[in-house]
Amino acid sequence: MSVPDGSEKELWLFNGQLTGPAIRVTQGDVVEVTLTNKNIEDGITIHWHGYDVPNAEDGVPDISQKVVAVGESYTYRFTADTAGTFWYHSHNQSSEQVGHGLFGSFIVEPKKQVKEELEIVGFVAPKYVDSSGALLPANGKVPKNIKPGTNVRIRLGNAHNKPQKLILNGTTFQIAAIDGNLIHKPTDLKETYLQIPAGGRMDITFTMPNHAVCLFDAKDATGGWVFQSTGENTKASTEIPDNVFKPEKYGEKKATTLDASDGFDRLFTMVFDSKLAFFDGMVHHLWTINGELYPNTPMLMVNEGDLVKTTFVNRSYSHHPMHLHGHKMLVLTRNGAATTGSPWWTDTLNVKPGETYEVAFKADNPGIWMDHCHNLDHATNGMMMHLQYNNVYTPFSGHTHE
Ligand code: C2O
Ligand code: CU
Repeated sequence: MSVPDGSEKELWLFNGQLTGPAIRVTQGDVVEVTLTNKNIEDGITIHWHGYDVPNAEDGVPDISQKVVAVGESYTYRFTADTAGTFWYHSHNQSSEQVGHGLFGSFIVEPKKQVKEELEIVGFVAPKYVDSSGALLPANGKVPKNIKPGTNVRIRLGNAHNKPQKLILNGTTFQIAAIDGNLIHKPTDLKETYLQIPAGGRMDITFTMPNHAVCLFDAKDATGGWVFQSTGENTKASTEIPDNVFKPEKYGEKKATTLDASDGFDRLFTMVFDSKLAFFDGMVHHLWTINGELYPNTPMLMVNEGDLVKTTFVNRSYSHHPMHLHGHKMLVLTRNGAATTGSPWWTDTLNVKPGETYEVAFKADNPGIWMDHCHNLDHATNGMMMHLQYNNVYTPFSGHTHE
C-alpha cells in the first residue's frame, strides 16, 4: 500500500483501511465491535484508548483477555456514555502493531449537538507508516474548500511515539477539548503551536475566515492540510510560532468531581530514569520507573473509592507520555505550580525531561489496569506497570504484553 511519503510499505490494517474504520457513535449507544484476526501472526486485541470501559473490554493481553489468534474472533461490548475524541488500537506488541497501522478513531458524539460543525478527524501517522509528521485523515479525506463562517472542529490524535508539534495558521482558534475532556471557557489562541503527546488528542475549533487556513506538523515538509475559503488557491503561512500552548493556564477554573479537601487515600511517586541493560537478550537503552523495568516496576494497589495522587518525576533525557488505562487523571501541578486554568483532565500526559507533575484520580473502575509510557518503544522495553484494585484477580495470567 502506498503511504503519504509516496513509498510502498507493508501495512497491518483493520478492514484494509488506513486509518482503521472510523467508529462514531452517539452518547448512550451500546457499542459492539467484533474483531477477527485474519493474518496477524502474533495475535491481536483492541484497546479503547482514553475510553474508560469496564476492565473486561480493555483489550490487554493476559490481563483482560487472551490475544485473538489467527482465525479467531472476539467481541467487545460496552455502553458509550461519555462523549469525546478517543481512539482504538491493537494492544499486542503495540509498538509493532500500532506502528504498522492497526489503529483508528473512536468518536462519541454528545447527545445534544451544541452547534453545527464541520468535523475533520485525523492522526499524526505512526512510525512505520510515515515518520515525517504526515497527517492521516480518519474518514476518507479532508475538505479542500470550507465556506467562510463555517464552524470547524478538528479532532486530532497522535499515533506516533514522540510528541508532535502542530501548527494551525491563518485563523485564531480554540482548544475545545483535551483527550476528549471539554475545556471550560476556552479562549482564542493565535501564533501558538500545540504539543500533542504520543497517544493524546486535542479538539481544535475555529470559524473559517475568508482566506486559507492550514494545519501541519512542524516536521512535515508537505505543509499538511490546507483549507481554502474561496475555491481559489491562496497560501497560508507556514511559519512556526515560538509560543507553546499551555494547558495548565488555559480556560477558566471550575469545581470538579474530584474533591481532595479531605486529602488523598494513596500517594505514589514515579521517578523516570534511564540505564543501559540487557533486555530480551540484547543491550538496550532502557527507561526505568523507580529504577526498575517491568515486571519489577511498582504495582499500584488501591481500594475502590480511593482518591489517589501520583507524582511523576522525569530525570531522564526523553519524553515520557504516561497513559493510565480506565481512569482520567486531573493535573494538579506542573513543575511545582498549581494549574490555574480549566480543569485539565487527561489520559496521556507528556512528561518532558526535567519535568514534575502531580495528578489525581478517583479509583472508581475496579480491575487491573496498565499504566505505561505511550512511547510504545519504551513500553516494549519495560516502561510499564499496573494499577490493581485489592481483591481483583485475572484469570488470564501469564506474561503481560504491552
Ligand atoms: Cu494507547 Cu495501553 O495504550
Ligand atoms: Cu517513555
